[in-house]
Amino acid sequence: MTEQPHVHPVRDDIAANAWVDNAKYLAMYQQSVDDPEGFWAEQAKRLDWIKAPTRAKNTSFARDNVDIRWYEDGTLNVSANCLDRHLETRGDKPAIIWEGDDPNESKTLTYRELHARTCQLANAMKELGVKKGDVVTLYMPMIPEAAMAMLACARLGAIHSVVFGGFSPDALAQRVIDAESKLIITADESVRGGKQVPLKDNVDAALTRKGAEVAESVLVVKRTGGDIDWHEGRDVWFHERVDGQSTDCPAEEMNAEDPLFILYTSGSTGTPKGLKHTTGGYLTYAAMTHQYVFDYHDGEVYWCTADVGWVTGHSYIVYGPLANGAITLMFEGVPSYPTHGRMGEIVDKHNVSILYTAPTAVRALMAHGDDVMASSKRDSLRLLGSVGEPINPEAWEWFYRVIGNSQCPIVDTWWQTETGGIMISPLPGATELKPGSATRPFFGVRPALVDNEGHLLEGATDGNLVILDSWPGQARSIWGNHERFVQTYFSTYDNMYFTGDGCRRDEDGYYWITGRVDDVLNVSGHRMGTAEIESSLVAHDAVAEAAVVGFPHDIKGQGIYIYVTLNDGIDPSDELKKELTQWVRKDIGPIASPDVIQWAPGLPKTRSGKIMRRILRKIAANETDGLGDTSTLADPSVVDELIANRATH
Ligand code: WTA
Repeated sequence: MTEQPHVHPVRDDIAANAWVDNAKYLAMYQQSVDDPEGFWAEQAKRLDWIKAPTRAKNTSFARDNVDIRWYEDGTLNVSANCLDRHLETRGDKPAIIWEGDDPNESKTLTYRELHARTCQLANAMKELGVKKGDVVTLYMPMIPEAAMAMLACARLGAIHSVVFGGFSPDALAQRVIDAESKLIITADESVRGGKQVPLKDNVDAALTRKGAEVAESVLVVKRTGGDIDWHEGRDVWFHERVDGQSTDCPAEEMNAEDPLFILYTSGSTGTPKGLKHTTGGYLTYAAMTHQYVFDYHDGEVYWCTADVGWVTGHSYIVYGPLANGAITLMFEGVPSYPTHGRMGEIVDKHNVSILYTAPTAVRALMAHGDDVMASSKRDSLRLLGSVGEPINPEAWEWFYRVIGNSQCPIVDTWWQTETGGIMISPLPGATELKPGSATRPFFGVRPALVDNEGHLLEGATDGNLVILDSWPGQARSIWGNHERFVQTYFSTYDNMYFTGDGCRRDEDGYYWITGRVDDVLNVSGHRMGTAEIESSLVAHDAVAEAAVVGFPHDIKGQGIYIYVTLNDGIDPSDELKKELTQWVRKDIGPIASPDVIQWAPGLPKTRSGKIMRRILRKIAANETDGLGDTSTLADPSVVDELIANRATH
């Protein structure tokens, strides 16, 4: 057992001013699970409906009938909810504060400006043939046009698929093809940490792949003016097509269950899955969690440091905040540029009240010592948030003490691309904090722990984290493959959503996420399937077989450790290691860069040929004393060989 955590009680002044204190949390939580229908019907009123829903919940987790519907007879438009309805009350107040990669560049867009630009873009997209139900791929820098593009899609009833700008042309092509996306919106280049990333070149390369010719048009924002190739008849400049459009564009009436977006994420097997999120339930949940978890109050500047390419950017840079009429800060760059003090300097410059970031960013700063924050005061901060991976108690305390000046509660928010919004998290006015714990469930969320056979476990224990009933923000399916959705999430345990995470519950009922129990890695908060990296490696001529596992990494949380068996006649060399590293970076993207490659003449396999990853994980972590039972291996001697030649990192 680990030592007792240092508990941070709720401060009275925070509880007194918060939307929710502990008594209210307990009462509301009880109501939300006793009467989900009544609770969620009430919550839907936070949105503007064209036709109000008469029923909230209609959901089934049964394996032979996974069917999730919320507010199914209601109609609304997400972009109207994020923009139009705020015009009267806060049209001239900031919606987006944009901070460029270059510290001298920033700008503010009011709700009125964002509305006008979104309408213009939506009109331009119509001209390019985009209709309700079409998929539009966004491959963009962190610039306001990314948010506009998402909202313009929502306005027309088109479905966006945002692909993170760090993904390779092949990864982009795969997603364009899977979604049969006719339009791609991109920029000439993005700028991060003073360096240009050739987005348009990557799009050009992606569209040469077989099948990618479904994409008929590419709309290009001029961000840097850098040199790019131009394909007449296919490529269209954003400023030329958008700027002259009417600033009026009616918002489509959408059913609550019409898709709003798809977002690809990695699983333990196969190609990335396009999770399908819909309209009414998603927005209700994103808005509600944003208000309560961040205890958002009118006029506050809120900053989520995620990229819009990830679900965190969708729900907590764009949809949740804008639905609530909040001021959302969008940062183009990286926290280490031009110096490691940048994050604090941005907080001071824009008077940020709420800072939502990732443990990996905190650990990277912490590695530079307390002085790294000396260039800023950060006394505007009121609340801190963490997401993407478990935050170790040391990093939590450093975040609290150094970044937050020991003044700000930290909300450690556990959730997933599949959940659409935050599921387990403290509420700052209600929840006593224990560093490292995501604490208690959000309203309407029923977490539980089960053993490997699916038996519910009671009390303080370790187990597999499942959710027992639906919540409005939940993904409804996998794009084009409902069967895979059922298989992945609802077939491991009967009538439960399986998260893929392991978890401990303590004597106070607090949840402590321990990490993935499947073959998914979490590297710097980015999800990566081991199978994806393995299949990239075996596509290389020199490679016969590859096995990928995670190992504990001080800054990234997990690093990528690769065991490679070479084809007969190929000699191992440092050059080949470099080549394989480049190969994976090019194939998937820099986020999949291997940290360690070990040559493996053989891999530990069961007699039926299954690779024993448990053993490979132990060797990678240098925990070779506790290898457990190796007697089921076809050839136990390969283990000794791997230990003897363990690569250092
Ligand atoms: C992990 C990101 C511990 C977890 C929103 C989950 C976390 C996966 C936390 C989802 C947290 C996310 N504590 N682990 N606060 N937040 N995770 O889909 O393993 O990119 O299953 O969604 O990240 O990653 P995804």
